[in-house]
Amino acid sequence: MRDETLLKLTSASQPLLTPFLLIAERCDSPRMGGSSTSDTPHPIHLIDTVWVTGLAGLFVVLTLGDWDRRGFFLSILPVAALLIVYAALTPRIGRSTGFLPIFDMEASILPLSRRVVCLLLMVIGVETVVFGFVPMEPISTLTSGLTKALTWYCMAKIARHCSWRIATTTRVFAIISTRNPFTLASNTQALFLVIASILTLGQVIHILPGPTKSKSTLWAFALVPLVSNLANFLAIRNAQSLLIHSGEHPIEQLIQEAKLNFARMLQRQSQDYTAAYEQYRHRYGVEPPPGFEAWYEFAKLHQSPIIDEFDVIYNAVSPFWKLSGQNVLDIINDVHRAPQSELWLCIFSGQQATVQCSHAHRTFDRHIELSFNRLLGALGGVLPDVRFLVNHLDEPRVLIPPRMRRTDTLGHEQINLTNLSRQPVWDKLTEFCSSQERGTAQTIYPAEPFTLSFVADISSAIDLCQNPEYGAMHGLTLSPTSFRLVEGAVLILSTGALSTMGDILYPSAAYNESEFIYDERNDVEWERKHNNLYWAGSTTGGFAMDGMWRQYHRQRFVELAQNLKPRRRYCYLRQQDGVLSQVRSSFLNGRLFDVAFTRIMQCEPKYCREQDAYFNVKSWVDKDKALRSRLVFDIDGNGISGRYYKLLASKSLPLKQTLFREWHDDRLRPWVHYIPVSQDMEELPEMVLYLTSTESGQIRAREIADQGRSWFTQGFRDIDQTIYLYRLLLELARLQDPSRPAM
Ligand SMILES: *[C@@H]1O[C@H](CO)[C@@H](O)[C@H](O)[C@H]1NC(C)=O
Repeated sequence: MRDETLLKLTSASQPLLTPFLLIAERCDSPRMGGSSTSDTPHPIHLIDTVWVTGLAGLFVVLTLGDWDRRGFFLSILPVAALLIVYAALTPRIGRSTGFLPIFDMEASILPLSRRVVCLLLMVIGVETVVFGFVPMEPISTLTSGLTKALTWYCMAKIARHCSWRIATTTRVFAIISTRNPFTLASNTQALFLVIASILTLGQVIHILPGPTKSKSTLWAFALVPLVSNLANFLAIRNAQSLLIHSGEHPIEQLIQEAKLNFARMLQRQSQDYTAAYEQYRHRYGVEPPPGFEAWYEFAKLHQSPIIDEFDVIYNAVSPFWKLSGQNVLDIINDVHRAPQSELWLCIFSGQQATVQCSHAHRTFDRHIELSFNRLLGALGGVLPDVRFLVNHLDEPRVLIPPRMRRTDTLGHEQINLTNLSRQPVWDKLTEFCSSQERGTAQTIYPAEPFTLSFVADISSAIDLCQNPEYGAMHGLTLSPTSFRLVEGAVLILSTGALSTMGDILYPSAAYNESEFIYDERNDVEWERKHNNLYWAGSTTGGFAMDGMWRQYHRQRFVELAQNLKPRRRYCYLRQQDGVLSQVRSSFLNGRLFDVAFTRIMQCEPKYCREQDAYFNVKSWVDKDKALRSRLVFDIDGNGISGRYYKLLASKSLPLKQTLFREWHDDRLRPWVHYIPVSQDMEELPEMVLYLTSTESGQIRAREIADQGRSWFTQGFRDIDQTIYLYRLLLELARLQDPSRPAM
């Protein structure tokens, strides 16, 4: 593990060392390498020319780096560094021509070894200072050290009779030919790797001294990449032949049901004010807030497809009815005055329809004020003044104890503000789950040790109380990057909240940041999209301070999609004689997943390095590259994922995993507008296989991508967000009306 990062870096540049060595040989031809052993100079073979070696090296480097140009330039750096180290460390014996000293292996082996030992000790010293003491495993360190020494010994022996290029070419061949074909993203990549390894093997054979005939037996090594890639190819073929092709896949049922439910929901929306009024009273058992009729007219005027489905608002505001209006206002003011509250106080002025936000010590509000003003600007004169607190952090804030929900004589002194950043917060978050809820969830699991289940009910899928295992499955519950908990009935607006939390939800300003806005010019038609699942992003989601980063949601997802966990078994559905059954297999078709971290962050140095070594990190990717795949994954970061609307608006199909509730939950339907993915992701391999590799799956994928895209233009317009906020402000105005008694 220790030198894996370094290994990755240098191995990518190794192929380039070969042409450099050749140049060096040409400069010092009488002294260097094995050509000195024979007195008559060889005629220069085509393979031995600098430009052919250079081209071959270039091809291999680009193939290893998956044709990523930036990665290519980065890989040149270690080559340059090695050259400098070489020039600096090699003892200068005899005549020295220019920058590169002449190298005599036998004479310099001892002084060189000493310097290498010194260098290694220095590296260990620096490492211990930067990363803390990293415990070693003596046996494996010793074994790998001995193996390395032995390799170099043999290399030196061989190089005496030919050229030092044998060292780099052998090593490059070893690296490419043993690349695990199951992790490759495409057939093209596999093909290039096979070509590159055969090319390198050819170089090795050519450089080696000895009779051509016996050397030719070495071509047998070409079987290593050939056989492994063939095995992978056959495994993919085999997996595809067992697919469920008819419409009997469980996904089909979920889609049909969800579609029907959504159509019914749209149809039953109230058609006139009386119906909307009755619907409100029927649902919530209270009168709608003052101004509700004007809201209805506004929504109707702007063709809001949704009139009655605003349970998200009701669920958020109803706990506050138990406080008097004056009490609600007092708490807002007092909490904002608390220096450690980290909240913005925003004041909506009813006459001008403008919002002004202020913070005790911050000036940048992440465009919260701007976003409110943009969405509420058209509402002059229809609302009273309203004040509310806004949370600018990604993570949600509010936990309302049930005890408080029941009493009406609360004082604000009962409100607790605590900084729980970088600590496990699960126990706190689930403090008020009733023991009954916990009990049922726990008995379900052991009863059926292994069932492949798709998310059928999104609200129980995100319910922390029903899923005690989530405590060790999400960065937010394990080690939130920032978590400033507010315990008490405080009216705070957040962009997302966990099931047990009491934040009031509003549309995130991030959805309107330029980097997250959908631009059709960057999208491509379905037929031209890659038939795979795409995701790239950074390791946000939790702050890694110990080995628990393996349990964070983003890390678990990338680990699965990159097939990194040894001996992991994936679950698939099979159909035999009309009966569905489940099978477990170690096979995961890497061709269907184009998934990688592009940045390792939010971690202490030691755990950054561990993650860097563990994952196949891509140096950089175009932010719109997602739109070139048919399936696009979306997953929580520290809070809600800001890129979600871009994916929803696009011609690709979002597969969404989240623990957060959002303002849009009443209008966005799983299996109609997107595909939900569970927290444990057990169903993901089968789901991706079905949606990419069967005809019915592909048709469904495209349908849902289209439905999500067209619904986005009807139900997620700016005006729809305005309609939501308008209704929310009506409720907030009623809540904080000083003349309202506690209910
Ligand atoms: C909150 O806690 C985190 C982690 O312990 C710490 O880094 C941060 O400075 C704290 N913030 C404040 C304002 O105390």
